[in-house]
Amino acid sequence: MALKQVCVCGAGIMGHGIAQVAAMAGLKVSLYDVSDEFAKKGVDRIAKQLNGQVEKGKMSAEERDAVVSRITPRSDLAQAAGGADFVIEAAPEKMEVKLDLFARLDQLCEPETVLASNTTALSIAEMSAATKRPDKVVGMHFFNPAQVMKLVEVIKSPNTSDETVAITVDLAKAMGKTPVTLNEFPGFIVTRILAPMINEAFYALMEGVATAEDIDTAMKLGTNFPMGPLQLADFMGLDTTLAAIRTLNREFADSKYRPCPLLVNLVRAGKLGAKTGEGVYKYGK
Ligand SMILES: NC(=O)c1ccc[n+]([C@@H]2O[C@H](COP(=O)([O-])OP(=O)(O)OC[C@H]3O[C@@H](n4cnc5c(N)ncnc54)[C@H](O)[C@@H]3O)[C@@H](O)[C@H]2O)c1
Repeated sequence: MALKQVCVCGAGIMGHGIAQVAAMAGLKVSLYDVSDEFAKKGVDRIAKQLNGQVEKGKMSAEERDAVVSRITPRSDLAQAAGGADFVIEAAPEKMEVKLDLFARLDQLCEPETVLASNTTALSIAEMSAATKRPDKVVGMHFFNPAQVMKLVEVIKSPNTSDETVAITVDLAKAMGKTPVTLNEFPGFIVTRILAPMINEAFYALMEGVATAEDIDTAMKLGTNFPMGPLQLADFMGLDTTLAAIRTLNREFADSKYRPCPLLVNLVRAGKLGAKTGEGVYKYGK
């Protein structure tokens, strides 16, 4: 099936990046968020990112305009999802939000449309059960920033058909990504390994082992990571990071995934990282 139109639900950190990559691959994109303001903000972020590419000589102004013209901001889900061959959900990492969206998308989309979630750690099988097309529900996990990071995890729930996996793998490749296919288990591959490491970095900070800067410097220089785990958590969003750790803790019922109280406190205080201007570190506007 040749995909022509994609709907991205959620225009935040991940959604705007995924929409940009899809439009750059030549697809028409509707970018849905809960208000006009949020949806338009997503398109503005894309235009800003592409302006940077034009300034660096990596893209012509005509190409930029063509990419932006393929993206329509929407705050009406019926308009956004109608006509879409493939939907990528990138709403907040809360199961109740995802279940509500999947049930509504199931009503609004054509029967053959694939519904994918960009969740960091939540169950694709559970989302599929909220629809009447469980075989067409799949995980499509991009990484931050979606414009740059090559990996896409394609997550097959026990309900996902091989055809749906194949369509998703083809879409990831068309978007210039390297897909890795896996069977659904909590945290998939990357989150399962990365989230406990980030959590441990928060414990090290809380216990006064070293400053945040020194923990990040040690992990960058000692393991050749491009950024330290605390900086990475700020970049991902501390709410998203905590939600992933909580999912591992709950799903495996194993105390090795217990969330660090320092991380919990920062999230409760609304210090969610770069997106709110403060997390472990402080950021300018
Ligand atoms: N941040 C990361 O590094 C990262 C990486 C990979 C995957 N993810 C996953 O991607 C998803 C989105 O994360 P994010 O970091 O972009 O979050 P975000 O907070 O930056 O953006 C979420 C967006 O969803 C919108 N939204 C709220 N309710 C909605 C609804 N009912 N329908 C549609 N949109 C709604 C919000 O207004 C916001 O614009 C989460 O499941 C997260 O776990 C995040």
